[in-house]
Amino acid sequence: MKLKSRRGSVGDEESAGADAVGSLIAPLTPRKDCWWSSALLKAITVLLVLVTGVLIGFAASANISRCYFYTPSSSSSDHHRHLQVGGDGDDSNSNSKTDQTEQQQMQGSSPSPPSFMDFVHPGSPWGHTMSDEELFWRASMVPRVEEYPYQRVPKVAFLFLTRGPLPFARLWERFFRGHNGLYSVYVHALPNYVLNVSASSPFYGRQIPSQEVSWGSITLVDAEKRLLANALLDHSNQRFVLVSESCVPVYNFPTVYEYLVNSAHSFVESYNIDVPQCAGRYNPRMAPDVMEDQWRKGSEWFELSRDLALDIVADKRYHAVFRQHCTPSCYPDEHYIPTYLHLTHGARNANRTITWVDWSRGGPHPARYGKGSVTTEFIQAIRNNGTQCDYNGKPTNVCYLFARKFAPSALGTLINLTTTLLNF
Ligand SMILES: *[C@@H]1O[C@H](CO)[C@@H](O)[C@H](O)[C@H]1NC(C)=O
Ligand SMILES: *[C@@H]1O[C@H](CO)[C@@H](O)[C@H](O)[C@H]1NC(C)=O
Ligand SMILES: *[C@@H]1O[C@H](CO)[C@@H](O)[C@H](O)[C@H]1NC(C)=O
Ligand SMILES: *[C@@H]1O[C@H](CO)[C@@H](O)[C@H](O)[C@H]1NC(C)=O
Repeated sequence: MKLKSRRGSVGDEESAGADAVGSLIAPLTPRKDCWWSSALLKAITVLLVLVTGVLIGFAASANISRCYFYTPSSSSSDHHRHLQVGGDGDDSNSNSKTDQTEQQQMQGSSPSPPSFMDFVHPGSPWGHTMSDEELFWRASMVPRVEEYPYQRVPKVAFLFLTRGPLPFARLWERFFRGHNGLYSVYVHALPNYVLNVSASSPFYGRQIPSQEVSWGSITLVDAEKRLLANALLDHSNQRFVLVSESCVPVYNFPTVYEYLVNSAHSFVESYNIDVPQCAGRYNPRMAPDVMEDQWRKGSEWFELSRDLALDIVADKRYHAVFRQHCTPSCYPDEHYIPTYLHLTHGARNANRTITWVDWSRGGPHPARYGKGSVTTEFIQAIRNNGTQCDYNGKPTNVCYLFARKFAPSALGTLINLTTTLLNF
C-alpha cells in the first residue's frame, strides 16, 4: 500500500476537523427565527474561527510529534526510500502500523501519543527514512538539563562496520549474553545486504540504513558518522566502539564495560611521525583549518565518549576540508578523527587504540590470523604481554580489549576459548 505524504495526512485531519466544527455549531445556529443581530453573528464567527484554530493546532502538533519521535513506522517521505536496507518482514509490519494509525484518525479518535521512553530509547534503527543531513542534525541535539528524568544506566554502543556477513556473530552473541540493557548494537553493511540472524540475536533488527562505501574515501568516514548518529539517538549510549567483521573481543563483557564506562579518556590512536605514510599525506591546502603541525594519523577503529561522538557528528567544517583535500594517497578514515580530536579535544584522548592489530609483517595490510595460529597463548599475549599502558593516569596491564584481524576459520577455537581464558 502506498504511504500518504505528511502534507496529505494533515489535510485529512483538517477536513475531519471542519466536519466536527460543522456538527458542533449546528445546534447553536437558530435557522428559523430571523431576529439574530449582527453582534451574535460576529460572536458565532469568532467562536467558529477559534474552534477551527484549536482543532488545526491539535492536528498539526500530533503530526509534529510523530515526526519528532524516532518511530520507523511513522515515516512517510518517499524521497528517502532508497536509504532503506530492505527486508519484507519489518516493512509489512510498519505498513500495517501506519494503516492502523490512519484508521484511527479517520474514525476521529486521536492516535496514541508517543511515550517518553520511545524518545530516549528509540528502538530498532532498521528502516528509518532520515537522510544523513536530517539524522546528523537530530543526533547532535544535547539536553540543557543535566539531570536525567529517568533511571539512566550508561550503555556501550558497538558499531559494526562491515561489507556483509559477520563471521564472528556467534562469538559476539556469547559475549553479549546476559548483559541486556548495558549495550546496544548497530550494523552498517552494504546497501541491500540483509543480515540473516535469529530474532533472539543481539544483531536482530540492528542494521541501520546504509549507503555505498568506497574504501579509502570520505564515504568510509560518512559510514562511521552514520553509525555514531544512529547510536546517539539512544540517550543511554555513553561509549561508542567501532568494530569490523574481522574483530573479536579478548576480554569478557563486564571487563570491557567497566573499562570503557569508567575511563576519563576516549581511545583514538593519534600520532604524527615524519614518514610519507603519515606526515607526508598532509596537504598544505588544508591550512589554515589544519596546519602541518596539527596533522595526526591513527587507526580507524575508535572508541569515543558521548561528548566527543556528538562533536564529530556535528562537525561540518573539518569534514569539508578532508573531503576536499584528503584524497588518495591520503585516507580520511586514518586522519580525520585523530586530527579533529587533536584540534578540539586533545586532552580528552588517550591517543592509543584498544583494538590490537599486527602490522609487524609490513605491507599495506595487517596480518590476518586463522585456525592454525589462534591458540590460548596467542590470545593471552594480546590480553597481557607485559607492556603497561596508562589508564586514568595509572599504569595497567590491560591495553587491548579487542583484536583484529581474524579469519572466519578462527571461530571454533575462539568459541572454545570462551569457556576458559576468555571467560564468557
Ligand atoms: C538464514 O539462516 C537460516 C539458518 O541458518 C537458514 O536456514 C536460511 O536459509 C538463511 N536464509 C537466507 C536467506 O540466507
Ligand atoms: C593526547 O594528546 C594530546 C595532544 O593532542 C595531549 O594533550 C594529551 O595529554 C594526550 N593524552 C594523554 C592521556 O596523554
Ligand atoms: C607487547 O605489545 C606491544 C604493543 O603491541 C609491543 O610494542 C611490544 O613489543 C610487545 N611486547 C612483547 C614483549 O612482546
Ligand atoms: C573445541 O572443543 C571441542 C570439545 O573439547 C573439540 O572437540 C573441538 O575440536 C574444539 N574445536 C576447535 C576448533 O578447537
